[in-house]
Amino acid sequence: MTQNSRQVSTAILISGSGTNLQAFIDATRDGLLDLSIVVVVSNRADAYGLMRAVDAGITTECVQNKDYPNRAAFDEALVDTLEKYEPELLILAGFMRILTATLVQRYDGKILNIHPALLPNYPGLNTHQRVIDAGEKWHGSTVHFVTEELDAGPSILQGRVPVFANDTADMLSARVQAIEHKIYPQAAALFTSGRLEYKNGKSWLDGVQLDKPVQYDDVF
Ligand code: GRF
Repeated sequence: MTQNSRQVSTAILISGSGTNLQAFIDATRDGLLDLSIVVVVSNRADAYGLMRAVDAGITTECVQNKDYPNRAAFDEALVDTLEKYEPELLILAGFMRILTATLVQRYDGKILNIHPALLPNYPGLNTHQRVIDAGEKWHGSTVHFVTEELDAGPSILQGRVPVFANDTADMLSARVQAIEHKIYPQAAALFTSGRLEYKNGKSWLDGVQLDKPVQYDDVF
């Protein structure tokens, strides 16, 4: 937390286990991150992350995509839910839905996502197995701003991990997640302190446009 930090009202969107959500809960509780998690929203009622939120005393909402006829109707319901909490920042933490342009524009430059790959390599799903199949030596995860194009918004922070010869997708996933739990709260800390901005479709750190993501380093 820096001197310029202020509590930024934040909604965290999840679909599953919520280990990244837990990293935000822990970093906030430990005073490392100056955000106020005003709501956790899941698109699945059985997401374990909802329990993590409840345990931490955070309000939860469930907006299930299966209850809506199409993506536009679902996103409209999502916006209606989010607006009740007036978030200044949306953090997608394993939220497995593609957002419509309407929602992305509504929160333009205020949505963060983490993608389990060294973007721009390996956008999309099943990244760990694809990385193993391709014989890559390095893998990792990238925090980026969300734009209308999937996994293509300007990147911010990237954490790398080695790929070992006998890795399974599960082993690699665990290694990637461990680094995610460090870099994602750190990227949010850069945002809450005002050091990180989204301008003209690019990420800016300390007033300088980022041409590539900052490699993982301890910024706390
Ligand atoms: C993370 O690995 C993240 O990169 C991807 O979804 C996963 C979510 O895991 N977008 P968790 O729910 O935070 O444990």
